[in-house]
Amino acid sequence: MPMITFIRPDGGQRDLSVPEGTSLMQGATTQGLDGIVAECGGNAMCATCHVYVDEAWTERLPPLFEDEDALLEGTAAERRPTSRLSCQVIATADLDGLVVRLPDRQV
Ligand code: FES
Repeated sequence: MPMITFIRPDGGQRDLSVPEGTSLMQGATTQGLDGIVAECGGNAMCATCHVYVDEAWTERLPPLFEDEDALLEGTAAERRPTSRLSCQVIATADLDGLVVRLPDRQV
């Protein structure tokens, strides 16, 4: 099961095992991680599951979906080149060790 590191804005971090085939958002929220709101439940409609992917990993993720790109324009915290919606990033074995940072706000 891929291990994903989530880093909070204060620098604290949690390493969570996220089942393959599950989104990072689902893996985080079902394990009680604060900092991801996910108002729409993963339907790519809210942008409250925003994360910043560590730069070392950005090339290893699938490209943005068109809808994801549009939604990222409406995030509460600033959009950066490494921004993704965690509900659209699916855990795979290749992503074991992935590091993502949480923004300072989601709404
Ligand atoms: S949970 Fe709503 S866009 Fe990801």
